[in-house]
Amino acid sequence: MQQQATSRRDERLPADIIAALVRDRAGIVLHRDKDYLIDGRLLPVLKARGFDSLATLAKALDGPGGEALADTVVDALTTNETTFFRDIRPFETLRNEVLPALVAGRPKGTPLRIWCAAAATGQEPYSLAMLFDSEPGLLDGRPYQILATDISREALTRARDAAYSHFEIQRGLPAALLVRYFRRGPDGRWVLDAAIRERVRFAEHNLMTDARRLGPFDLVLCRNVLLYFDPPTKGRALHAVRAAMADHAILMLGGAESLLGIDAPFAAVRGQNGFFSVRE
Ligand SMILES: C[S@@+](CC[C@H](N)C(=O)[O-])C[C@H]1O[C@@H](n2cnc3c(N)ncnc32)[C@H](O)[C@@H]1O
Repeated sequence: MQQQATSRRDERLPADIIAALVRDRAGIVLHRDKDYLIDGRLLPVLKARGFDSLATLAKALDGPGGEALADTVVDALTTNETTFFRDIRPFETLRNEVLPALVAGRPKGTPLRIWCAAAATGQEPYSLAMLFDSEPGLLDGRPYQILATDISREALTRARDAAYSHFEIQRGLPAALLVRYFRRGPDGRWVLDAAIRERVRFAEHNLMTDARRLGPFDLVLCRNVLLYFDPPTKGRALHAVRAAMADHAILMLGGAESLLGIDAPFAAVRGQNGFFSVRE
């Protein structure tokens, strides 16, 4: 039996083995037209690990050290694209409508708990921390906590470093916030103030796994990650996210993301595009 299963696996193309691995572990769907992505993204892994081909790498996944190699492969195939205040409009809605309502519903002194569930290289949680620091009235004196998670260790390392290239800084960051919160490092990158960095706690978390221990949260940003999943996997991830949310909490998705055709315990908030409340 074992023999048969092994030989069937061996017959698959290396790109198929890798696509199946990434789908099983991270929920990310890579169709055949994404083979170029597998080749391109895994080239540095091949070089670093001394594999002569994708086939050798795929075979090594079953050998000693295969688990660590699988983590590296999944990480390499995540897309960590992000910007400060991405899409700006949802941040305006958050600032002007969503946060005031959330704050009004909470007793003074109770911290507002926020989770950025696919934080990539940190621009999203740091955007929130800069917003709260530069507009202290927004939370009406309430303390806040921001947890930022991602499946990608490389992205998390970059997020913790909080050092951004000129190109990254130019994407979405208002000049006033650049002047106020960043200084130029010796390598030319812009480094975020320690005071803002310390407002965000980073941790590795896979949206395919139980998130209850992380919560409960009042606000969850799960933006521009569901698009990599198929509809059942989106539903699964959203149920896991819901389990880490308080009953009154609000979910924020990416601008182009909807829950149409997805089994998810959320309802769109009328008039607030991209925001969802927990369905009872
Ligand atoms: C395109 S970025 C979005 C970043 C940010 N939320 C934004 O909207 O700008 C998607 C992120 O989702 C992460 N990701 C993909 N699959 C994941 C999973 N199963 N669990 C947690 N994070 C995942 C990727 O590593 C990547 O950093």
